[in-house]
This record gives sequence, C-alpha cells and structure tokens, in this order.
Amino acid sequence: MILHGFVRVTIKVRNSCVDFKKGMVFSMYNLELKGKTIFVTGAAGFIGSNICKALLKDEDIKLIVGIDNMNDYYDVNLKEYRLKELVSYNNFKFVKGSIADKALIDNIFNEYKPDIVVNLAAQAGVRYSITNPDAYIESNMLGFYNILEACRHSYDNGAKGVEHLVYASSSSVYGTNKKIPYSTQDKVDNPVSLYAATKKSNELFAHAYSKLYNIPSTGLRFFTVYGPAGRPDMAYFGFTNKLLKGETIQIFNYGNCKRDFTYIDDIVTGVVNVMKKTPDPNENGVRYKVYNIGNNQPENLLDFVDILQQELVNAEVLPKDYDFEAHKELVPMQPGDVEITYADVDELVNDFGFKPDTSLREGLRRFAKWYKEFYS
Ligand SMILES: NC(=O)c1ccc[n+]([C@@H]2O[C@H](COP(=O)([O-])OP(=O)(O)OC[C@H]3O[C@@H](n4cnc5c(N)ncnc54)[C@H](O)[C@@H]3O)[C@@H](O)[C@H]2O)c1
Repeated sequence: MILHGFVRVTIKVRNSCVDFKKGMVFSMYNLELKGKTIFVTGAAGFIGSNICKALLKDEDIKLIVGIDNMNDYYDVNLKEYRLKELVSYNNFKFVKGSIADKALIDNIFNEYKPDIVVNLAAQAGVRYSITNPDAYIESNMLGFYNILEACRHSYDNGAKGVEHLVYASSSSVYGTNKKIPYSTQDKVDNPVSLYAATKKSNELFAHAYSKLYNIPSTGLRFFTVYGPAGRPDMAYFGFTNKLLKGETIQIFNYGNCKRDFTYIDDIVTGVVNVMKKTPDPNENGVRYKVYNIGNNQPENLLDFVDILQQELVNAEVLPKDYDFEAHKELVPMQPGDVEITYADVDELVNDFGFKPDTSLREGLRRFAKWYKEFYS
C-alpha cells in the first residue's frame, strides 16, 4: 500500500514501490495475475481487445475468456480485426454472445470459474442513447446485473470465487458539474444522458453487491479514450472518415468544448494496475472503489481538430493542400453533451504511482499512421 501525505521519491518495480526517502519497500499490489483465469466482457471492443492483448503478452495468466456479442453499432470488421490477434493465443477463448443472456453468463462462470472479471461490454456513446435507449438498458443494466449475480454466486458452497470485479464507468457521470477537475469525491447525481445514468447505476449496483456479498469491486471512469483501431463513432475517427470522403465535419458548441483525451495505452496500463489491487475496505467496511482514468489535461476542441488535421496530412491520409476550412461547420451543442471533461487523477497517482501522460499529438499521430495502413 502506498503511504499518503508526504513527499517522497519512489520508483516502481514489478509489484512494489521502493521509497528511497524512508528506505522502505512496500507492496502496491495485493493480487497476482499469474496463473489466473480472467473473464473479459466486450473483448472485441476497443478497450477490451487492447486489455486482453496486453494481458496475453505481458502477464503469465492461465486463460482469458472473452465475450462479445459483435453488434453492429459500428463496423463489425473492426471488431473482427481486433479479435484476430487475440484468438492466435492458446490461452484466449472467445465466446460470441450477450452478457444480457443470464444462462450463458452462468454457464461461463460454472465452466471457467474466473478469478478476475473485467466488465467492459456496454452500449457506449451518448448520442445513440437518444435514438436507441433499449440497447443501453439491455447491455448496461441487465447485462451488468447478470455479471454481478454471477460474481455473487461464484462464492457458493465455500468456493474461492471472484477475487476482483473491475468494470467500466464513464466520465459522463459528472454530467454538467461545474467544479473542475472532476473528482471521485464530487456528487454525480445529475446525469444528462441515459448512457450516463446507466454508468452511474452500475456504480450503485456494484456498491450494493460489494456490501451484501463482499465482492471486491473497482469502477473506472474513463475519459474520452482514443487510439489506433478505436471507435468510429468518436470524433477523431468520424472526422477522419468524413474529411476523407470530402464531407463536412460538425464541431459542436461552436468549438467551445474541452475534452480530456486519454490515449488507449495509458488506459490499458491503468486498468491492468487496478486489476492487481483489490480495494481496501472503506469507512463502511465495503471493498469498493472508483477511480478516474483521464489525461488530466483537457484540450480545446478546435485545437484538437487542428492537431488531427496536421497528423492526417503527415501520415498522408489527406493531401497537403486539403481545404480544411471548407469542410468545417460550427454548430450548437447536442442534447446529452457536456462542455468539458477534466479528470482529477490524484487517487490513481496516490494508489498506483501512475498517471496517463501520452500527448494528444503523439496519440493522434499513432492513430493517423494506423488509419493509413488499415484503410489502404
Ligand atoms: N472509449 C471511451 O472513450 C469510453 C469512455 C468512457 C467509458 N467507456 C466504457 O468503456 C467500455 C469499453 O468501451 P469501448 O470504447 O471499448 O467501446 P466498444 O463499443 O468498442 O466496446 C464495447 C464492446 O462490447 C460489446 N457489447 C456491447 N453490448 C454487449 C452485450 N450485451 N454483450 C456482449 N458484448 C457486448 C460490443 O460489441 C463492443 O465490442 C464501455 O463500457 C464504455 O461504456 C468508454
């Protein structure tokens, strides 16, 4: 456990921190991934596939069971592309199906007895929750409830059961909170989209299950995650597709928006760190914790578009003489959107000595390079 409240010099080694000032070595983690069976939901998704890849490459785990329903909310080819690499590992098993299917989830738990569960399957996106709310209730509410129930019953008859449940929440739970940066100590009772309401509900459900059945659970509020093979429904990817087709991109709130863009590799490091540490009991004795994972550096939307343009030209996705100004339209705010997202990551730094730090330019450069290769 990291000690709080004093300045110190530390270096991280594999499973511990060395504190030079105090000459102490103390363990940061309390859970080994080595030899474990890990159940990852949303395994063909952007974040899920990258987490599986990192675990398969870097951690000596026994088995990852990944589930995904491969829905067509966005191009299924991308999901298949991400899966292709994962299924080449002998210790990766893919199940195509929905977490909303209770019998299927129960069967997976009975057969594989996962030690750690990482729930990333969800209907993502704020705007789509206006047009297709059913998908959010099915995957984010019913699906997550099935995962919690399966975790609960994993301890039946004295079984060791699930050692840690890690699940995706979202920065959208902060709604239109005025206080920035957003801290996990802030009240988040005013969601402005159904998507945000489902994510906040997940945190409440997890708390109740952690309290009732002693399931160690950690929720992660991700802030605008981007990178190679990311989600085409997100601005950086959607803008690129449109610009390439010669269409006009819409910049919401007339460009007066700020986003804490977080590069995928930073998210992966954060999630894998978190998986290795179950929360200590809180003041109510509940092993429950929520962290923000964000870059802690919000970028203006217009600056973001500017950097994206430059990197698309550098990667030769778009020609040098592309008339960007002719393909931009400044439009009002969309329902469900918020003006700013800005993560306070002090707790992440305190508990793991880690903070996302990939610059937007570097991250967009890697995205543009990947885009060029993938689509040509
Ligand atoms: N990417 C971000 O910026 C961001 C920000 C905040 C929170 N999140 C959350 O992180 C998680 C992962 O997001 P992502 O960006 O990788 O999204 P994604 O859409 O790429 O991944 C989610 C995956 O879950 C699958 N899925 C959806 N419903 C399912 C169901 N009922 N059963 C099985 N699989 C199902 C989808 O097919 C998809 O492959 C989600 O919970 C999302 O809400 C993401």
